[in-house]
Amino acid sequence: MGELRVRSALVTGANRGIGLGLVQHLLALPNPPEWVFAGCRDPKGQRAQELQKLSSKHPNLVIVPLEVTDPASIKAAADSVGERLKGSGLNLLINNAAILKMNSLDTETLKDMSQVYTTNSIAPLLLSQAFLPLLKKAAQGSPGSGLSCSKAAIANVSSIGGSITEMYMWETAQCIAYRCSKAALNMLTRCQSMGYREHGILCVALHPGWVQTDMGSSAGHVPPVTVDASAGGMLKVLSSLSEKDTGTFLDWEGNVVPW
Ligand SMILES: NC(=O)c1ccc[n+]([C@@H]2O[C@H](COP(=O)([O-])OP(=O)(O)OC[C@H]3O[C@@H](n4cnc5c(N)ncnc54)[C@H](OP(=O)(O)O)[C@@H]3O)[C@@H](O)[C@H]2O)c1
Repeated sequence: MGELRVRSALVTGANRGIGLGLVQHLLALPNPPEWVFAGCRDPKGQRAQELQKLSSKHPNLVIVPLEVTDPASIKAAADSVGERLKGSGLNLLINNAAILKMNSLDTETLKDMSQVYTTNSIAPLLLSQAFLPLLKKAAQGSPGSGLSCSKAAIANVSSIGGSITEMYMWETAQCIAYRCSKAALNMLTRCQSMGYREHGILCVALHPGWVQTDMGSSAGHVPPVTVDASAGGMLKVLSSLSEKDTGTFLDWEGNVVPW
């Protein structure tokens, strides 16, 4: 697998966890993007300090205020990214932001189910719609035929928890809303791959592994995969994708995950 080469990329939920790791790895590529856009819902907050520090060292890193459940915030983010790109398109949209609630079949609620579904399934749809003109522009502006991430791509960070076949770690954490939201995100990825192929946009669902983040640790166990390994692995996988991979569900090591 070669290194990822993109002119521009946007990562949502980029202030901590896997999102921050993806930004760090994008900036550290041998050929880093001209622009790395880091979506963050509270850029001045305590939780964004590391991202702020990073942006003071990297002029190609732009922090974009982005609350992924707010259509007005999504539109403002797409407008500001478009302005910064000055007529060129966005190569890579990584829908990473998500939430998890530790509810069981007995304790799941309308409120949590709605909030999780809005964040994990609906927001990636709305973000992809808002950034579609920029993704199309990137695809049109890239030479050659076929699909690839260096041309234009949407990567939806999903989870093996959403795999209907695997029912991964059911005994440890039922997380009904989370599982349903990621299964829905997987279907969205398939739909996007069908609809956006003609625009030259590759769409993929990625499972990042069970990773050492706030979310990964919330079941009270230490996850086996570091943020570094997960983020680096996912970028490697993205770099290797071609036409045949659009609409697939892969993990951070490139293995196919069953739907
Ligand atoms: N960690 C794992 O083991 C694991 C396993 C499978 C899949 N995943 C997936 O990997 C992705 C990243 O997970 P993670 O472990 O890095 O999670 P995390 O440590 O909990 O971080 C979540 C990120 O999403 C952001 N976010 C949440 N809701 C948002 C909203 N409404 N608007 C904007 N940003 C929002 C958070 O921002 P704030 O700081 O503002 O809250 C934070 O930056 C998620 O899609 C998750 O489902 C993780």
